[in-house]
Amino acid sequence: MNTVKEIPLDYVEELLNVGIALSNTHDLESLLELILSESRRLTMADAGTLYLVQDKRLKAITAQCQTFVERWGVQTAHSLFRSFSVPIDNSSISGRVAVQKRVINIKDVTKLPEEEQHNKDFDNATNYSTKSILAVPMLNPDEQIIGVLQLINTEGEGGTEFFSENQEKIAMALASQAAVAIQNTMLTQNLQKAHLDTIQRLGLAAEWRDKETANHITRVAYYAAIIAKKIGWDQEHVDLIFNASPMHDVGKLGIPDEILHKNGPLTAKERQIMETHTIIGANILKKSPSDYMQAARTIALYHHEKWDGTGYPMGLSGTDIPLEARIVAIADVYDALSSRRCYKEAFPHPKVMAIINEESGKHFDPELVDVLIEEIDAILKIGLQYADRPEDFEKFRSYQQITVEDE
Ligand code: C2E
Ligand code: SIN
Ligand code: SIN
Ligand code: FE
Ligand code: FE
Repeated sequence: MNTVKEIPLDYVEELLNVGIALSNTHDLESLLELILSESRRLTMADAGTLYLVQDKRLKAITAQCQTFVERWGVQTAHSLFRSFSVPIDNSSISGRVAVQKRVINIKDVTKLPEEEQHNKDFDNATNYSTKSILAVPMLNPDEQIIGVLQLINTEGEGGTEFFSENQEKIAMALASQAAVAIQNTMLTQNLQKAHLDTIQRLGLAAEWRDKETANHITRVAYYAAIIAKKIGWDQEHVDLIFNASPMHDVGKLGIPDEILHKNGPLTAKERQIMETHTIIGANILKKSPSDYMQAARTIALYHHEKWDGTGYPMGLSGTDIPLEARIVAIADVYDALSSRRCYKEAFPHPKVMAIINEESGKHFDPELVDVLIEEIDAILKIGLQYADRPEDFEKFRSYQQITVEDE
């Protein structure tokens, strides 16, 4: 970076440290706050606004003002900020910076000619006096404008009330580092959002086909997350299973209506076709580098394997079955038993628990059965919150009355 060479040595280390902090900050909101507070600190600016280019305009994403914090406290100062946007043209200072891709450094805005005046609405509304403005373009490595960093009212070097040449260079160096960090963060967030979006769509599509299970996938996701947390998974993996488990039955999209919606027990032939929903699901989710999709695929493929090796499609047993699939297996069956299906009524809670217990070490990993029992209050709460219909609500309520009477 050329500009760094011209910056006084004592600032270079500061800038490097800020650069490191920026590259370690991965959520956009904290990143923008950090960019603004660090650039204010290094230029001794009282206030500042950070704009990003969105929908071909400059949108003010975040603003900070020390004077307001002193006047009203952090909370009120923060709540004063209302997002606004300006066009990318010469009608505003920040707009000009974006169009011209160069710094504008104004010593005293009150002395500008009428046609170049900055917008005074804000000053008038808040009784604030803007004097010096330093507005710096944020350019990505391809020299495209991605935002503008606008700093206001510096204490200045040696008591001047305007931004010095050094401060201008520091702000520019920081703005270009910031641009890279913002772009990386946005790319990652967009990717994650796209993946989550796909996941939700797929899950919803499967749910929509399988009309009897309105809230099934949501409940199963919560149950699986509760179990994963209890066995000590870190938050990142808990989030992973929460987001991946909704796709466990996505392969049911490939099962014909006559079978999927059959009002009664399946024939052996129909059952065989039904069981392919695991393999169909894994094929739908096959080719993706994303952690979510990988986990979702594993879960779709193995969620009907059984601890004793009598499940499908592979007949895996014990710990050969991936843990995330063992977790979803118990969450899924607990929910299937507790809910109405086109082929069965919802079972009362004691019967559900009797079946789960009976299947410990047969269908289910016995350790996970213990965990489910330990976490049953949290699980029942989710069942209530995402209940399908009044009958389910009644069932959970009557169970709670039973437990109260037992005490
Ligand atoms: P599902 O309805 O989501 O059920 C998931 C799993 O919960 C079942 O996997 C089974 O392990 C368990 N489960 C559900 N109901 C009962 C029950 O009444 N008793 C016991 N002990 N376990 C139960 P499974 O059996 O591999 O079935 C996979 C899917 O196949 C089911 O998903 C459902 O969509 C369909 N299916 C299974 N049996 C029938 C049936 O008799 N008629 C119809 N129409 N569909 C069925
Ligand atoms: C602008 O004129 O750049 C927008 C408003 C402001 O000056 O703070
Ligand atoms: C964990 O231990 O946090 C995750 C293990 C797994 O994904 O199987
Ligand atoms: Fe299934
Ligand atoms: Fe299911």
